[in-house]
Amino acid sequence: MTANLDAIASLCKRRGFIYHSSEIYGGMPGFWDYGPLGCELKRNVKDAWWQFMVRGRDDVAGLDATIIMHPRIWKASGHLDTFADPMTMCKDCKKLMRADQLESILAEQKKPPKPRNPPGTGMCPYCGGELTEPKPFNLMFKTVVGPVDDPSNVAYLRPETAQAIFAQFLNVHDTSRKQVPFGIAQEGKSFRNEVTPRNFIFRSREFEQMELEFFIRPDEAVEILFGRVVHLSDGPDVHGDPQPEWGWDVWHMYWVEQRKKFLREIGLPEEHFIEYWQKPDELAHYARACVDIEYDFPFGRQELEGIAARSDFDLSQHQKFSGKSMAVFDEQLKLAARKMDDAAKEAFAAKTAAEWEKRGKDAGEARAFCAELFEGRFVPHVIEPSAGVDRLMLALLCQAYDEETLDDGKGGKDVRTVLRFSPKVAPVKVAVFPLVKNDPAVMSIARDIFGKLRRKVNAFWDVSGQIGRRYRRQDEAGTPWCVTVDKQTPEDGTFTVRERDSMAQERMTYEAFLAKMYAALEF
Ligand code: GAP
Repeated sequence: MTANLDAIASLCKRRGFIYHSSEIYGGMPGFWDYGPLGCELKRNVKDAWWQFMVRGRDDVAGLDATIIMHPRIWKASGHLDTFADPMTMCKDCKKLMRADQLESILAEQKKPPKPRNPPGTGMCPYCGGELTEPKPFNLMFKTVVGPVDDPSNVAYLRPETAQAIFAQFLNVHDTSRKQVPFGIAQEGKSFRNEVTPRNFIFRSREFEQMELEFFIRPDEAVEILFGRVVHLSDGPDVHGDPQPEWGWDVWHMYWVEQRKKFLREIGLPEEHFIEYWQKPDELAHYARACVDIEYDFPFGRQELEGIAARSDFDLSQHQKFSGKSMAVFDEQLKLAARKMDDAAKEAFAAKTAAEWEKRGKDAGEARAFCAELFEGRFVPHVIEPSAGVDRLMLALLCQAYDEETLDDGKGGKDVRTVLRFSPKVAPVKVAVFPLVKNDPAVMSIARDIFGKLRRKVNAFWDVSGQIGRRYRRQDEAGTPWCVTVDKQTPEDGTFTVRERDSMAQERMTYEAFLAKMYAALEF
């Protein structure tokens, strides 16, 4: 079904997925807290990403860096100078808005107002008055490090996790014993002082990212090594294992396919997301390609995550600003270059210079780059799959939310609200219910089964209310299985397993249930 954002937000509040931050003081726009079910869902999304992108591979290493870093990082990355949105203010009502979002703000205002906009937070409706000239507004949150509030001590909360990966590239390269092509992954908080945070947790001021920087050889190095570069036009199998002859465009497509595979595995059907290839005039100047994976949210089609081919821009910028070489040494490349005579090297350098010039780059720099390549040295290029945890959680909630109309058995209708999460991300995997409270044998064996299950997965114990009510409570939490222990259990060791989606019930043993559950949880 097409989920309604208000119904989802209300379920999230009611069932303890998501609350307004600082709610007892009126809340803070753009800040959200995750309750008992929300933090389990979040943990599962992050663990699934980590398993798929890091532990499940042998060419990716992890990193957990600080949120506040040396401010020069943001100068080198370009965030200090260009990470800004155009901001405008109404001269009459003083509402601040993103100049590029006026249309959608006006459309949203036509809807009935929501009760929760706290006063004094710039969240009043726009009166339609005259606007000031748009001005760039830098989205980074500033802070001061140390006891002296002086401009020289200003630092920033990171607006993305990616830059720490570039700043630590050499350390990870030297200590992880990995050679290019390889990746560094990080999950963690990012902060953006968004002018208009909106659409529940879709655009927040504090959120989490899951980013991979996958470092590859420049195509010119691949050509020296293997005598050819495989491009997309050669029809490589981008679903199979990576190949050393791949050029940047094949690596980029490979990661687009990997990301789509991940999204399918955690419960977003392929027909609900769309691959948007940015047009050449939409690309950042250093980017060679960028794909947004978009999802049909209830408020429209919006970016879920992005996969960018960023050339050697980031590492080269840090090399320039830090004065530290970001080049790696590739023994194989040096040996391959040694087999080229002077004429072959000159022809290679001339061809490279001509190609770089066509891309608006300097021919002299191309020749210097080739001279380094012949010595086995280069600054790696990077492919960056970058995802937002909160945004993915919202997509999963929208995808999972369902209101199913059932016969109530008395000739009427009954609506069942159910979150049809994939078991891989479901906050609670299994709930255990003793059918009756007053039978010590049933209680004891149910407690025993619950005790064994909770050591393996997040399990939930519920003894209160009719069994039907208990099932419905778990449907709303998205729990895939409910185990009901009854009088037969002490006799033959079987219990009833009720499936959330079909509501079908089947008797099975503990071992049979474990096998069923593990099969559904495995990546
Ligand atoms: N390092 C690249 C980068 O940060 P981005 O497109 O600005 O790229 C990547 O952000 C992802 O982070 C987005 O696709 C989105 O999922 C998430 N994201 C960005 N800004 C966000 C915000 N204000 N609130 C929630 N998620 C956000």
